[in-house]
Amino acid sequence: MKISYNEDSRVFKLDTERTSYCIGIVDDDNFVGHIYYGRKLTEDNLAYLMRTMEAPFVPSQNNRDRTSFLDTFPMEYTGNGLGDYREGTLEVRTADGHTGVALSYVSHRIYDGKEELEGLPATFGQDTECRTLELVCEDKILKLQVILSYSIFADSDAIARSVKIVNHADEAIYLTKVLSACIDMDNDDYEMITLHGSWARERAIQTRPVMRGKQSVSSIRGESSHQEHPFMAWKKRTTTEETGDIYAMNFVYSGNFLAQIEGDQFGSMRATMGINPYGFCWKLEPEASFQAPEVICVYSADGIGGMTRCFHDLYRNHLIRGEYKNKKRPILINNWEATYFDFNTEKLLSIAKQASELGIEMLVMDDGWFGHRNDDNSSLGDWQVNESKLNGGLKYLVDEVNKLGMKFGIWFEPEMISPDSDLYRAHPDWAIAIPGRTGSLARNQYVLDLTRKEVRDYVYEMVATVLRNANIEYVKWDMNRQLSDLGSYGLPADRQGELYHRQVLAVYELQDRMTKEFPHLLLENCSGGGARFDAGMLYYSPQIWCSDDADAVERLSIQAGTAMIYPLSTMGAHVSDCPNHTVGRITPFETRGYVALAGTFGYELDVTKIPEADRNMIPQQVAMYHKYNDLVREGDYYRIAHYADNHFYDCYEVVAKDKSEALVTYVQVLNRPNFHSRRIHIPGLDSEKTYVIANAQDWPEIKQTEYKGDTLRYAGINIPPLWGDFKGRLMHLTAK
Ligand code: GLA
Repeated sequence: MKISYNEDSRVFKLDTERTSYCIGIVDDDNFVGHIYYGRKLTEDNLAYLMRTMEAPFVPSQNNRDRTSFLDTFPMEYTGNGLGDYREGTLEVRTADGHTGVALSYVSHRIYDGKEELEGLPATFGQDTECRTLELVCEDKILKLQVILSYSIFADSDAIARSVKIVNHADEAIYLTKVLSACIDMDNDDYEMITLHGSWARERAIQTRPVMRGKQSVSSIRGESSHQEHPFMAWKKRTTTEETGDIYAMNFVYSGNFLAQIEGDQFGSMRATMGINPYGFCWKLEPEASFQAPEVICVYSADGIGGMTRCFHDLYRNHLIRGEYKNKKRPILINNWEATYFDFNTEKLLSIAKQASELGIEMLVMDDGWFGHRNDDNSSLGDWQVNESKLNGGLKYLVDEVNKLGMKFGIWFEPEMISPDSDLYRAHPDWAIAIPGRTGSLARNQYVLDLTRKEVRDYVYEMVATVLRNANIEYVKWDMNRQLSDLGSYGLPADRQGELYHRQVLAVYELQDRMTKEFPHLLLENCSGGGARFDAGMLYYSPQIWCSDDADAVERLSIQAGTAMIYPLSTMGAHVSDCPNHTVGRITPFETRGYVALAGTFGYELDVTKIPEADRNMIPQQVAMYHKYNDLVREGDYYRIAHYADNHFYDCYEVVAKDKSEALVTYVQVLNRPNFHSRRIHIPGLDSEKTYVIANAQDWPEIKQTEYKGDTLRYAGINIPPLWGDFKGRLMHLTAK
């Protein structure tokens, strides 16, 4: 890892182990230009690549055509309104109502380590682990300072970028758009990969050509969303899972975002990512600063899989924190799909008792334990235990569960308020709403206005009081509706445009407080399933509920899309009931276990009611989890075949970092008549090593059990057709 500055050529170069990123300062105006991003280069001086020699576009040589320069020059970060007609990254409105802004380089700082981003989640590292370049730019007329930060890591090829704006003028300025990163490059026939979905089918992978014009994904829902994801990658058309160029950006943020690639008139493209400017207007007082969230940029020459593993390692080592960062998580059983709102102490204890005998390690009590919440129409905000349901109280229940040798976890939805709640009756102005307009309900609830300190403090105390009074070791923090009717009774008129972002900052502050006061707590985020599965939340919780759809087949797609960026250790995944509550599909209990093994692993069913044969399988699944979880949590993940592409079978693998073992999961989704075996290639193995199928008894059709690593990688192995649909198997390979 190295950051250098060549004073003669005015070129900065950031080198990670396998990539280089180059920035140049050009012309008399000190424009900050993007020169190169890609494979690592030994050459330090790449000034010759800067498109400043290409008259007539150079302002110092031809200022009469200044807009020609501004509209073509590859910028590191843009101004607005002065002649660059591509998607800009910074927009302002002055007290006089003007919007023009232009940035030029002023100074820089290169230092060991990486500073925290105030109030925001961000990657981190010790001084020996990372290094940062700060480019200080300014608009001299506006006295607006813009600090561009780039951090690189000794053990990663990722680059973390962020932007901070400081107002040095005598009067306030309004920021109407502050994106966090921009990469201008030639469009080398790229294809864009993005993730799309809906409730219960989050993060399906979509690929499309990068065309002229704008193609984007975004959210204006106040959360990263089920629908689109704060991620995009662009790859060569020939790039595969394991070979070829790919670039990616992922936003470390949980609210509104915009991720866009714009193909321009000259065949270049501009990739940008940041807070969605929709509804955004931030008043920046003199000497105040605004910190935009972080974007992680990745380049890999090793295909989509190379990009994936770069994100996984970065997030495992430099984003996720806390006691469970590198620890096996307790196998939990959650009562949501088991009972919904219809439970009491006896019911929960009967589930816990049976579960504890089978080896399950934690009971999680989901929605419905507070206020008078017997359906989803009431009580959010009234976080007092409903003792007519939990007869004996919460502490009694927790103690009884602990006596069974199990931990206890609980569900909250702290950001919400039901119209039918004591809290709403007392403080109707605590909901986000536009005065005089009846707010749109979703799941019969409103969103609390957490931008108000008194609301934040009140909610925190209510939740913390519950946690302080019983031995609660896990919290599922839910968020079940998107924002609408943006209005705050607590913000002045000229700060209403700050509401979306302030709300996200407030959630971060609350989770920060909770994890500091309860450092041993295992926090799992959730949002109507996976609507807030993002890198921002991973800074506070090491795992996130992936989707309300736990059907094994649907989960193959949901988990493949999620694992494209996020480590398997973060994916909340459970074995749930059948017929599946979302799609009605019946899949073998065994297969549900294999699919959940690719995540945190747990159960979401009434263990006292499921068929005995299934129940009897639980101890084996528990043993399987304990056997493989270290590998799943810490290993390198490879996609081998995806059911969404081939409509037939799914296959993925986790390989130990030292390549001593690998676990291949194969799910034949549909059996097809008169088909022969499937040839799969098993990547990531050590070509020199010999591998043995350690669980050969599970593969009676495969007679040979020993193979050279390169044979499995390049020639592959034939997986026999399995009898029936939705059949899964594991193949455990160990090096001799
Ligand atoms: C959301 C969650 C579910 C469950 C319910 C409870 O939908 O994703 O897992 O907790 O809320 O209301």
